[in-house]
Amino acid sequence: MKKLKITPIKNGTVIDHISPGLALKVLRVLKIPETTTSVVSVAINVNSRMGKKDIVKVENRELDTKEVDKIALIAPKATINIIRNYEVIEKRTVHPPREIIGIVTCSNPTCISNAREPVQSRFLLVQDDPPRIRCYYCERDIEDIAEGIK
Ligand code: CTP
Ligand code: ZN
Repeated sequence: MKKLKITPIKNGTVIDHISPGLALKVLRVLKIPETTTSVVSVAINVNSRMGKKDIVKVENRELDTKEVDKIALIAPKATINIIRNYEVIEKRTVHPPREIIGIVTCSNPTCISNAREPVQSRFLLVQDDPPRIRCYYCERDIEDIAEGIK
């Protein structure tokens, strides 16, 4: 059978081994503008050696620490591959931070971190995979972390 491949990219970032179905959430973290002229590919539920996975490829883009932390909270099994001139020059695994400061909104509307005079949100990682986080202030466990990502 002819195998349809997603195009390799020349320069940029490939986020690979995303748990199936989570690519669109990862894409949201990257905040790619509608006016982008870069090649962006999203593959959902593709077969791999280790079962199904999602992949996101973004040309001409490297990720900052905050973006990597957000991806780790959504897809802790992801690998981040930096591509230069078609070669993988760096491959990193991601790790959700122990303390998550300022990147997730608490789902408790009365939490002090949601007050009008805002205190930066702060969570503790209580489970690695799937990540579970608990608000440092009101102790609420966040059900849908991706939903709360700023
Ligand atoms: N990739 C790409 N463009 C390139 C080079 C690689 O899109 N120019 C993609 C590959 O398709 C793959 C990922 O980047 O999804 C990592 O590439 P590589 O390390 O070559 O693949 P594997 O060895 O299969 O990676 P792993 O062991 O992490 O599964
Ligand atoms: Zn809270």
